[in-house]
Amino acid sequence: MESLNNVGKSNVLSKRGMRIKNDSTILEIGLQKCLDNGYSDSNPKGIINAGTSENTLSHDIVAEKLSQVESPYLDDPDILKYKDFTGMRTFKNTLCSFLTKYANAHEQLNPDNMVILNGCGSCVAALSIVLCDPGDVLLIPSPFYNAINTMTGRIPLVNLVHVDIGCQVKCIFRELQNDILAIQNNNSPIQRADNKHKLHVILDEIYMFTVFDEKTQFTSVLSLDDLPDPDRTHFIWGFSKDFCMSSLRCGAIYTWNKQVVSALGGVAYWFSVPTAIQFTVDRLLADEEWVADTYLPTNRKRLKDAHEVMSKGLTQLGIPHRVRSAGLYIWADFRKFVSPLTFEAELEMFYELIDAGVYIPAGQCFYCQEPGWFRIIFALSKETQRLGICTHVYGGIDAERNRPTTGDCVVTRHVKEYVYAMEEQECNRVNRPLIAALPQCVQSFDEEIFK
Ligand SMILES: Cc1ncc(COP(=O)(O)O)c(C=O)c1O
Repeated sequence: MESLNNVGKSNVLSKRGMRIKNDSTILEIGLQKCLDNGYSDSNPKGIINAGTSENTLSHDIVAEKLSQVESPYLDDPDILKYKDFTGMRTFKNTLCSFLTKYANAHEQLNPDNMVILNGCGSCVAALSIVLCDPGDVLLIPSPFYNAINTMTGRIPLVNLVHVDIGCQVKCIFRELQNDILAIQNNNSPIQRADNKHKLHVILDEIYMFTVFDEKTQFTSVLSLDDLPDPDRTHFIWGFSKDFCMSSLRCGAIYTWNKQVVSALGGVAYWFSVPTAIQFTVDRLLADEEWVADTYLPTNRKRLKDAHEVMSKGLTQLGIPHRVRSAGLYIWADFRKFVSPLTFEAELEMFYELIDAGVYIPAGQCFYCQEPGWFRIIFALSKETQRLGICTHVYGGIDAERNRPTTGDCVVTRHVKEYVYAMEEQECNRVNRPLIAALPQCVQSFDEEIFK
């Protein structure tokens, strides 16, 4: 994110306000285009949104269930009053029981350690505010969800350092050595040099229940009983992906650190979840039978099927891709279509695909280190939409293949073979390697900065 010193002057806005006004990400642009002119039965020429990470596959069963739960307004007029901004006690109890069971927690979760906020994005922002000072640095494995940048940058004024775990730590630190003031903790640099490895670790497990392959086991940080530093370990989870409810804006932080809970209480006002939503989601989770026997297995099966359809479609189009066992998206390898293989050409292709009727974000939106990769959401409700994507992508590409002399073409470009050197980070599947790697990161930091 641009430095505050470079944002220019305004008679109206603060520097922060100026930077926010001018900072549209590609994901925001893509979403806006889909909101303005989205594909639907009544607008078949609209843009198909295969870029926003949403699970629409099980909207029908969630909507049906929501229509059956008790109405908060009728049953509880008290709901209209101010409440604890960190979340209703009853909802915390329910969510703690739910996560204890499904995250296989090694101990019964304690509602006193939980703060409920309006989405995982807000959880990241709130943790950035209470763990970092403006100008501090958070390390994040890349590629990663781009909006984390905006969550940590726009209001908390915290910088992200992208860490391609295992290979680039040293050079990142070398480049940034004049900028780094802290790594995700509040000690002064000198204290940190003496006190190695005292990193806070934030585990964003927002995709916990999207594992659709029976052979894949999800390991939540809540299940680990041998954490290196529980007091500096903070867990995030939310309903946007796993329960198809991105618009209800509901997520939670679980932390063993009482100081962090207390500080979060001071910012929860800005990020709180309306009581009616908490009440409704609480009732939905409280139906344990529905969750266990209907929702989770049905959603898992639908994700698996949708993934298969998308994967087969891409294979038929000759587009290599990373087969997944979890998540809502597939990384597709469009490198042979991007020529020269640069981020500029990749961006050009991103806009060409939007013009062809499909929004698929380019890897640079997620700070992929190599151009040519695109992230395609497969958790779309209708098979026709998924096929539509293939048709649109194919249409965009094939049209170019048939018009090799056209100046603005996508695929007059020759195929190149590359080794995909970057291991795809499964940001939300946690993550012993990450925890294990962080002390090494700090050590490299210390060696580089404080030698
Ligand atoms: C890894 C990750 N974290 C957080 C979020 C934000 O989710 P929410 O809707 O709960 O704010 C997303 C959304 O795409 C995500 O992919």
